[in-house]
Amino acid sequence: MMDSLSLPALTRAAGTVRLPGSKSISNRMLLLAALAEGTTEIRDLLDSDDTRVMLDALQKVMRSGIPGDGVGVTALGGNAWRVEGCNGVFPVKDADLFMGNAGTAIRPLTAALALSGGHYRLSGVTRMHERPIGDLVDGLLQIGADLRYTGNPGYPPLAVHPGQVTLAAPIRLRGDVSSQFLTALLMALPLTGQRAVIEMTTELISKPYIEITLNLMARFGVKVEREGWQRFTIPAGQRYRSPGVLHVEGDASAASYFLAAGAIGGGPVRVEGVGSASIQGDVRFADALAAMGARIEWGENFIEARAPAAGKLKAFDLDLNQIPDAAMTLAVAALFADGRCVLRNIASWRVKETDRIAAMATELRKLGATVEEGSDSLAVSPPPTFQGGVAIDTYDDHRMAMCFALAAFGGVAVTINDPACVNKTFPEFFDAFAGIAAPVIAIDGPSASGKGTVAQRVADALGFHFLDSGALYRLTALAAMKAGVAPEDEPGVAAIAANLPAEFAGDRILLSGEDVTEAIRAEAVGVDASKVAALPTVRTALLERQRAYRRFPGLVADGRDMASVVFPEAAVKVFLTASAAARAERRHKQLIAKGMPANMHALLQDLQERDARDARRSVAPLRQCDDAELVDTTEMGIEAAVAAAMAIVRRQSL
Ligand code: DC
Repeated sequence: MMDSLSLPALTRAAGTVRLPGSKSISNRMLLLAALAEGTTEIRDLLDSDDTRVMLDALQKVMRSGIPGDGVGVTALGGNAWRVEGCNGVFPVKDADLFMGNAGTAIRPLTAALALSGGHYRLSGVTRMHERPIGDLVDGLLQIGADLRYTGNPGYPPLAVHPGQVTLAAPIRLRGDVSSQFLTALLMALPLTGQRAVIEMTTELISKPYIEITLNLMARFGVKVEREGWQRFTIPAGQRYRSPGVLHVEGDASAASYFLAAGAIGGGPVRVEGVGSASIQGDVRFADALAAMGARIEWGENFIEARAPAAGKLKAFDLDLNQIPDAAMTLAVAALFADGRCVLRNIASWRVKETDRIAAMATELRKLGATVEEGSDSLAVSPPPTFQGGVAIDTYDDHRMAMCFALAAFGGVAVTINDPACVNKTFPEFFDAFAGIAAPVIAIDGPSASGKGTVAQRVADALGFHFLDSGALYRLTALAAMKAGVAPEDEPGVAAIAANLPAEFAGDRILLSGEDVTEAIRAEAVGVDASKVAALPTVRTALLERQRAYRRFPGLVADGRDMASVVFPEAAVKVFLTASAAARAERRHKQLIAKGMPANMHALLQDLQERDARDARRSVAPLRQCDDAELVDTTEMGIEAAVAAAMAIVRRQSL
């Protein structure tokens, strides 16, 4: 596991991110499906530490060991899960459950287990034992449940035993420490079958999370009557019933990092998986960005952010009680505002994965910001210039790691310590972030223009990754040849491209483990490559594979459509060309040097035909983009061509 991750200074962000499933929705759906009657299939479940904690716990209390008991949780592959519900009664009556640092797992499970008539012990990591649970335990004790603190009073670990539950009087519950206590009681109380009333004794925080809870309970057939945010009534005789198949929305809190990147780094950055139809309160983060002057576009299932039309992001003073998690992203976005920003009503930060107010203040100061820390607020004044060479501590808090990635837009390299803490909710975060923020240099041009050599040399000089996209088309052509699939057979070739067993191992290229580095350079493969590259479904099949090369510290990609289709947001676009005669002559020399037969006339004709085919095809034709800079290498040696490309790169100060 990496101890730290160095992010290069970043200048711009653009692209599209498909969000992982929402943590809040994933863990609620899992518990409700487990408690329900019938089988639920949950699709797009988040795959992370916190959901694994919930899955493991449910597997423990549902697997009775009795064959054919018909309850349990099964992976269906591709983030889909089948949950065979236990109809309100966990079959396993004695278990030790490890809850990691997952608040969304321990709180609701504590309540459900307290009403399940068994003996359960719940514990977590050290930090979990510092996170309060007393208000929830008090609520459960009022109705006769039997829970005991086995460590410090008010905190996990806990032991749960069978109790004598009666719901004669309303449960009186505090709502000002964590809304998860109310969520936990709401989800568990239908197990009693009795009418249940909860009355809040203090102001309820993070209300949108209660809306998620009520919304999901309703999908499982349980209605809650709500009087303001003061009193909640669950009418008697309701039971959870599986709604069948459910989809988990994308994670709206995770969306905040990418939307902020779009607002700070130019954009457009689009997140897919949340939008105007979302049930998560954190989508309102986009409104806060809009208040800062960012340009936001909403779709039913996407949100897109760009920088203000002119000038910097504006300073803000906002009550962020409704979006406590996404609010952390605003604290870092404040570094890029035109003045002092104030985040108010965020006391819950103090009892999260770490004391987030203290942690945020400490780390923002490292970057040169002036920070005033209040008991439930934070004021951030942007640094006059960003402090370089800073290492950000993350306090085992996934959101600290994710939001501080944005600091690299301050024009300085930033080191993130313990980046693996993002596994809590978003294991692929830094790859996804690189996918919109890592600089890309696109070098396109016709065959034998020298772009391959130039691109490789530029990548080496900058220490960037390198993508030879032509090799992917050549590999596809070669794989088709080997499989006896004609280059005109579009479905056949597309199927090969979609599952190309190719590997780039250093400077060797492997196809199904066989070294084909030389073989793909054969003229016959080049001719077929040009044919398969004209097939739209083949190009689509290779698109995501090419985009996945965009990683830190940056990528140099060469091909025909790097600037136009694959990386339209590339920071640098170069179109490298040379006269057909000059290119034919270069190829001729190469072949002779390799001791291969070569005929100048045939080579020229071949090149011209291939250029024509690449330029004529309907999808991604070979052409110079309007925003690409032309380098004509007809009269240049390779050194001069590399120097010309590097000069263009330097002008962009990546
Ligand atoms: O650059 P090259 O000669 O290795 O490319 C082989 C073929 O693949 C060429 O005919 C064009 C095609 N190609 C493409 O269509 N798009 C790319 N991005 C790269 C190559």
